[in-house]
Parts: sequence; structure tokens; C-alpha cells
Amino acid sequence: MSGADRIAAGGVTAHENNRPPKIEIHGIERIFLKKNETNGAQESFVALKDVNLKVESGEFVTVVGPSGCGKSTLLFLLSGLASPSRGEILINGDKVTGPALNCGIVLQGYALFPWRSVRKNIEFGLELKSVPKKERKEISDYYINLVDLTGFENHYPYQLSGGMQQRVAIARVLAYDPDVLLMDEPFAAVDAQTRETMQDELLNIWEKTQKTIVLVTHNIEEAIGLADRVAVMSRNPGTIRDVVPVNLPRPRRIGGVRNTPDFQILSHHIWELLQDKGSRGGSGAQSAAVPRVDIGEHIRDDAVI
Ligand SMILES: Nc1ncnc2c1ncn2[C@@H]1O[C@H](COP(=O)(O)OP(=O)(O)O)[C@@H](O)[C@H]1O
Ligand SMILES: [Mg+2]
Repeated sequence: MSGADRIAAGGVTAHENNRPPKIEIHGIERIFLKKNETNGAQESFVALKDVNLKVESGEFVTVVGPSGCGKSTLLFLLSGLASPSRGEILINGDKVTGPALNCGIVLQGYALFPWRSVRKNIEFGLELKSVPKKERKEISDYYINLVDLTGFENHYPYQLSGGMQQRVAIARVLAYDPDVLLMDEPFAAVDAQTRETMQDELLNIWEKTQKTIVLVTHNIEEAIGLADRVAVMSRNPGTIRDVVPVNLPRPRRIGGVRNTPDFQILSHHIWELLQDKGSRGGSGAQSAAVPRVDIGEHIRDDAVI
């Protein structure tokens, strides 16, 4: 069921279908070997522990948590670019053992091809899918316009600012049109105005298609504004502390909901979930290190937990 169908059906979500979940994360643990700063010994570090989550087909789930709680690690595991130390991830019921063609990912740090122009970067996935040249151009034109890069089609990544490169990365994944979209802080590097335009466009695309989206952010406003459900993470070790349903109306635009009482209540709830863990710390946590979470400039500018 697409987002539009869901809306037409009076807000019935994919939960109420009989279809199996699109994504299942079962008991994930991810251990890294880290060098001890004092004695140089290799020590194991538990970045993720007991992570469980199910995402329904066509659902938009955001993952919010402080820096270092394992958000990027979790997205990497979902994408198949890395393997969990324990547990398993299923997409469409199949165990993830490597990168899947039906998953598109926007990583932190752009990951553009430096030898390809803006247009050629955006058309990369379309070339893989053997889309004819004329159609490729039409699609890339559409997304170049969407991310406001008209006039920069023939520029190379080194000629662009960080925010522009990020917009190319987003345009590339949207043009590829994957079934599952995994996004790691995709709007963190773009200016506030462009961010809101792109958030709204992502909502628009999601509402019209059957994409399943998992988007990682450290911005509470973004997490709530986009999502059907917000998975709230805590750290030491990284785990999902709670999953909060967002029952704000669809179709939704962030500017249209951010000042509503329901939005404020959700913000406060998620803020408390994050703050609670940050101040107390988990078992064996170093509570001295205070992680920073951006809860959205419209709510609280200098929020730290
Ligand atoms: N390849 C790696 N080797 C060792 N430690 C890592 C590696 N990747 C991530 N970590 C550690 O795992 C934790 C979670 O990192 P990350 O997933 O990047 O957090 P987030 O995206 O929430 O900021 C951090 O403490 C980080 O230092
Ligand atoms: Mg990260």
C-alpha cells in the first residue's frame, strides 16, 4: 500500500496488513576491536547490543539518538555493507549477507564518484539499470532541479560545497528509485531552508510511492516530522530504548505540524527518553560524557542531553 493509498484508506498503516515485515532486525550485536589508548592493547567494544526492530512495508521509520550511540553502525548493517557480530537482519524475509540491489543508501560523507559530474553521479544507478540515455537525462534533470543544483550539472564533486555534494547524493539515490531507502543524517549538512524543502519533498515522494524508509538523524524535529514511528536509541552500549508511534496526520509537511500541541508532546517525550539515558547512563556507562542532540531550532536551540 502506498502512502497515498494509506491516506485514502483513512490512515490504515502497513501494520494492519498481513504482509511480513519489510525489515526485521533480530538481536543484533556489533562488536568492534579498539586500541586501548593507555597500553595499546586491542579491546572489544560493544557498539550495538540487543537491537530489535521490525519495519513494515511502506513504513517511514526514523532512528534518533546521541552521537556515538551506533546509528550509522546500524544503518551499515541494514545496507549489508557490514555484518553483525551476533543476530540477523532480514529484508523481504531474506537474510542480509551483502549489499542488496533493492536498497538505496545515503551515507554520511556523500560518497560521490569524484571522476563523475553531478549529472553522471545522479545517473549512475540508472546506467546500472540500463535506463536509455534520453530517459536518464529526463530523470536526472528532474532531480537536479529538485535539489536545486540547476547550472551545476557539469561540475565535479570537488567543485561543490559539502551541502551541495550531499544534495547530489540524495538526488542520486532518489533517481535510482530503490524499494528500501536507508539514509544517514541526509540533511545534516544542508542549510535550514533547503533542508525543509528536501524533507518535504522526501515526504511527498514517500507518500506517492511504496518505499520503506529508515532515516537516521540526531534532530528530534526531523525524526518526528517525517516518521510513522521513531526508534529512540541510547548508548553504552547502543540499543533501541523505545519506539514511539507518531500519529500526526498525513499527508504531512513539517512546517504544518511542528507547532501543533501533539508535536510538542512527542518532542518532549522523546527528549525525556534521550535525556534520561544520557544523565543516568546505561550499565557501566561513563555518564561524564554528555552527548549532544539537536532537537530542532524551532523547539530548543542549544539542547544537550
Ligand atoms: N570501524 C569501527 N571501529 C571501531 N569503532 C567503531 C567503528 N565504527 C564505529 N565505531 C564506534 O562505534 C560507536 C558507534 O558509532 P556510530 O555508529 O558511528 O555512531 P553514531 O552514528 O550514532 O554517531 C562509536 O563509539 C564509534 O567510535
Ligand atoms: Mg553517524
